[in-house]
Amino acid sequence: MLDLVEAVAARREASDPDAATVLRGLSAPQKSLPSHLFYDARGSALFEEITRLEEYYPTRVETAILDEAAPQIAGRTPQGAVLVEYGSGSSRKTEILLERLPQLAAYAPIDVSRSALEEAKARLARRFPSLRVEPTLGDFAAPLRLPADLAIRPRLGFFPGSTIGNFTTPEARDLLGRMAAGLGAGARLVIGADLLKDPSILIPAYDDAQGVTAAFNLNMLERINREFDADFDRSRFRHEARFNEAEGRVEMHLVSLRTQRVAVLGRMFSFTAGETIHTENSAKYSMRGFHRLAASAGWTPKRTWIDRAGLFSVHELAAEVQDFAAGGRVER
Ligand code: TRP
Repeated sequence: MLDLVEAVAARREASDPDAATVLRGLSAPQKSLPSHLFYDARGSALFEEITRLEEYYPTRVETAILDEAAPQIAGRTPQGAVLVEYGSGSSRKTEILLERLPQLAAYAPIDVSRSALEEAKARLARRFPSLRVEPTLGDFAAPLRLPADLAIRPRLGFFPGSTIGNFTTPEARDLLGRMAAGLGAGARLVIGADLLKDPSILIPAYDDAQGVTAAFNLNMLERINREFDADFDRSRFRHEARFNEAEGRVEMHLVSLRTQRVAVLGRMFSFTAGETIHTENSAKYSMRGFHRLAASAGWTPKRTWIDRAGLFSVHELAAEVQDFAAGGRVER
């Protein structure tokens, strides 16, 4: 019987990259779960709620910055360009750009949440009836695939929300490099990056008084139960947001409230009281630090907007024109 359970687990692990990542993450000395699993239908709805919280300044501040920056960004966007958004979620901030960009041939949102993509597409169809929307369901780190007739068009990338901070520095560099390659030489990228600031502001943004962020973090366990045949009891874990000073990032953890064992895909995982599952990082940048990161991935910073209080930054980056030779690929 146990052998059968193990065989089923091994098969799932071999055929499903998420299953392999989950099992590997829970087997490491510092347990972790992959953050893209936050965004099932419930998680995406909870995240929308986070973006409206008083304590969660990034959405509010970035939206205000985009209101100011949009005319300038639009002025530099060529006729017939495609707007590609990485991790589009509700596409609310995108509307600020779309209002100013009648010259677009299409909007191509990429997101792991089917419900978020469908809701956004329906809303945009009402608000911008003549806009062509070409959604992609999946991981935005995968190679960019656009319909053939759009593939030759100039690109404007959009990556708001400081989602870049949810990657480690080497991952972020790799991702930005792929975006440069996928968007192509001469493309622009408009990207939001949260700024380093006092933990007294940072921590409440990731641990709100109403407990919405806690519910969002704990929802991951319910998804693991449902999709990976697990038996996490969410009342035996609590949400924690920590500021990691050395790394300059906020970390999200789920703290085990007691000694316990949990089954996932037929394997047992032991927790001591106080042991954590690390579920997310949210890196914070200085302006120069972010420019350095961008430059290391082949992007030239053209313009940076920061709010008066110095909370958040939006950058317009340009993909360097020559860089393709490095990958051995020449576009003709
Ligand atoms: N990109 C968002 C951020 O880093 C994602 C986020 C906000 C998040 N709140 C969260 C991720 C809480 C996990 C838990 O700010």
